Amino acid sequence: MNIHIYSKKSDDLTDEDISFMNAQRKKFWGKGSAIDFKKEDKRGEFLFIEENKKIVAFGMMKPIKITLEKKTYTIRGIGRGFAVVKKKGWGSLLNQIRIRELKKNGKTGIAFTSRENSEFFTKAGYQVKKNGIRLFRYKDKKTGELIKDDEGDMIYFEGKDAFVTKLLSSKDPAISDTDFW
Ligand SMILES: CC(C)(COP(=O)(O)OP(=O)(O)OC[C@H]1O[C@@H](n2cnc3c(N)ncnc32)[C@H](O)[C@@H]1OP(=O)(O)O)[C@@H](O)C(=O)NCCC(=O)NCCS
Repeated sequence: MNIHIYSKKSDDLTDEDISFMNAQRKKFWGKGSAIDFKKEDKRGEFLFIEENKKIVAFGMMKPIKITLEKKTYTIRGIGRGFAVVKKKGWGSLLNQIRIRELKKNGKTGIAFTSRENSEFFTKAGYQVKKNGIRLFRYKDKKTGELIKDDEGDMIYFEGKDAFVTKLLSSKDPAISDTDFW
């Protein structure tokens, strides 16, 4: 077994990387699920895991600015996680690497996911706040309107900023500078 792990900034993704990831997404979620990663995940860092020169998992983390009670935090938004080959431990490895990175930098990492994936993320080492997406708003770039979403668990790994602890004890919503990821 020959395992190769590497990362790329979103700006450095090749057309081949992008079509590979979108083909996987379309196969799993249907036609409308393709993403313009360079636009949607600006400043994102994509992680790829290859086994015998074939990509078996990929995922992304990107810096996101969040304001809570007038203080701004830069967290890592975790997303785009995908095991091409499922139930073989690749999704778990992807998240072990992410958590190692978060620990190294002392950063808080946050993902939003649907309930059926929450158990997977708990096993991978994150904590879960059910319906946690309801604690957030994001600012519409054009209108400045604050947008909310009712559906989604918050998956998190808390860093030195203790952002999630503060969020969970706050009456205010957290305002993200980025659309939900
Ligand atoms: C969710 C996903 C990344 C899991 O990856 P995977 O490589 O199949 O998972 P692993 O083999 O590493 O599993 C690790 C553990 O989680 C469990 N697990 C995996 N998927 C699970 C799920 N959906 N629900 C509950 N448990 C799950 C496994 O049984 C395993 O448990 P064990 O350690 O007790 O044996 C994968 O199913 C996937 O790519 N799904 C489609 C994309 C997606 O939904 N991504 C998440 C977006 S937020």
